[in-house]
Amino acid sequence: MKKLTSTLLAAATIASALAADTAINALKVSGSLDKVTNTSAVWKGAKFSTVTLYPQTTIKMNDKNANELNVDAKAVKAEVAAVYNKSKIAFLIKWPDGTKSVQQSGKTDTYGDGFAVQFASNYSNPAELPYIGMGSAGRQAVIHLQKETAKTYEPNGNGNVGTQVNPNQTDLFDKDLKAFNKTVDSLGNADYERSFVGEGFRSMTEIKDGSSQSSSNMTYVKKGWAGTLSRSLKDEYVDLNAAAIPVAFAVWDGDKLGRNGLKYLTSWTAVVLKKGDDKLVNALHGKIEGDAAKGKESALANGCTGCHQMENADAPNLMGPSLTNIGGYATADYLRESLVNPSAVVVPGYNRNAHSNYAWYNIEDGKRVSTMPDHSWMEKADIDNIVAYLKTLKAEAK
Ligand code: HEC
Repeated sequence: MKKLTSTLLAAATIASALAADTAINALKVSGSLDKVTNTSAVWKGAKFSTVTLYPQTTIKMNDKNANELNVDAKAVKAEVAAVYNKSKIAFLIKWPDGTKSVQQSGKTDTYGDGFAVQFASNYSNPAELPYIGMGSAGRQAVIHLQKETAKTYEPNGNGNVGTQVNPNQTDLFDKDLKAFNKTVDSLGNADYERSFVGEGFRSMTEIKDGSSQSSSNMTYVKKGWAGTLSRSLKDEYVDLNAAAIPVAFAVWDGDKLGRNGLKYLTSWTAVVLKKGDDKLVNALHGKIEGDAAKGKESALANGCTGCHQMENADAPNLMGPSLTNIGGYATADYLRESLVNPSAVVVPGYNRNAHSNYAWYNIEDGKRVSTMPDHSWMEKADIDNIVAYLKTLKAEAK
């Protein structure tokens, strides 16, 4: 009986490893995608797909309140539609959020809700996509970010908070002050919209020179957000003219003190523009080889939990990235690569020098070299099993 139960349990684990999100089918439209909002007519006829965003638990923030608010965070299910025309592609993402959080200007302890859409500069090899957390050395990512912020008026129009106009610093009174406030209200910009390009968290550069054309916005409707992003199909950073492209989505919950890495994110998800190329779709959504139950045994036997938190808080905090949600936001290929070639992508963890007990990497010849042992000596079947097990490590959805 005991044997049977564990076999059934193993089967259940494997089933959950396979239940991943499916590809998103983009709809070709003839209308303009220049000024897209959640109520634009272009969404008529578009098909929504469900994507799951997992709490990014790779590293813990140095913020006790935030950590307490996010203990055992559940995954978030969002609905995404994509449309494209000759020159642009647009996304509509709807996700539940019971509280509308707005970033207040000049306050450091409030955080706005927000979302981001990420693209890969090079996706010719689906096994070597940029690291999901904002790219990695040699693998450039482009990120469009939209945050909900309070209305402020900044005369130079560049969003620089330091030059915002504060009504108390004008010499206006009564009627004049009222008129001024009215002007600010009409000119005021509540749109925190940014684009970044880079090869890893600390290397991200904001694109300010118009070399990437995009526009995004977000609207709070019925206990949730509807965010849209429209961008060129091609610019100097990405070329999205392909049968299928990898895209990743992230959302922040200001109410849970979410900011920076404290967010929810999907794995790379295939957006299909034209039928015919299944390479990317299979790599991101195809069947996962391997036996998750055997993989778990192997992971334990090979000491992974000495450095990583997997199902429980196994390893001491900070030894290695937490893998508690890795199955949610990492692709199977990425997991395989982490084992057989740990330095191909080095997780941007803590500042090397600030790390108290174990450095995640060393610098050799100016390059980051992972301190994780290389597991390329393992049999392929064993690696497959561990990858299948790692794919099961993810939070349940809300
Ligand atoms: C001696 C400590 C150590 C051991 C043992 C170890 N790792 Fe790692 N692992 C690390 C460190 C440090 C990193 C971060 C640096 C990097 O990206 O390689 C890492 C990164 C990873 C990543 C990428 C995580 C992410 O967030 O992207 C995965 C996946 C992973 N390890 C899986 C495993 C598995 C599975 C095993 C067991 C077969 C294992 N590790 C054994 C230290 C270790």
